[in-house]
Amino acid sequence: MNQTSRAADPLLPPRPTALAHLILRDVILAGDLALDATAGNGHDTLFLAECVGAGGRVLAFDVQAAALATAQARVTSAGLQERVGFFLESHAGMAEHAPAGSAAAVMFNLGYLPGAPHEVVTAPATTLKGLECAAVLLKAGGLLSVVCYPGHPGGAAEAAAVEQWFATRADMGWRVARYGAIATRRPAPFLLLGCKGPS
Ligand SMILES: C[S@@+](CC[C@H](N)C(=O)[O-])C[C@H]1O[C@@H](n2cnc3c(N)ncnc32)[C@H](O)[C@@H]1O
Repeated sequence: MNQTSRAADPLLPPRPTALAHLILRDVILAGDLALDATAGNGHDTLFLAECVGAGGRVLAFDVQAAALATAQARVTSAGLQERVGFFLESHAGMAEHAPAGSAAAVMFNLGYLPGAPHEVVTAPATTLKGLECAAVLLKAGGLLSVVCYPGHPGGAAEAAAVEQWFATRADMGWRVARYGAIATRRPAPFLLLGCKGPS
């Protein structure tokens, strides 16, 4: 028997943001359209730009100019700027930017921009509008991922509203799931995933 032990990997189990990437990586194909509803520092935007390949397209939204600039710089330094359109706009209006049923994936990473003042934060009313846009934009079989943060002020109410919205999708033929750490000292972030059913 092999007795070698390995050091505990601090990245296991994967955090919700990493888990979203692991799952979406296999769903998004070269040439697809994908949307980043909360571009922030651009980690998800860059990930999506890599997934869609040279013939694909990513639309990235944020309400903070500084966030978009950081995201744009990240994508540009990877040489993938031709694949991405950046919009200084709320995700509440993103359905105007692509045809219904055209997207393979839509990602949300809620909360505030890490390292920035916390005044600008996602809010339930606009988040729910953004989710409705995502539902319109996704093609059948497309994936919606939302990372929720119940640990900051207002975050628990937003996370509950989003989870409730996902539950309503199950009644509409979507497959939906929730993933997150348990037995944590503070409310842990969690990932909601929805696979749109045939309309
Ligand atoms: C947790 S950060 C996103 C992190 C990002 N996905 C990344 O990979 O770096 C959340 C972002 O949502 C943005 N945001 C807040 N309200 C928004 C809205 N209504 N529409 C689009 N973005 C919004 C914030 O400005 C912030 O940059």
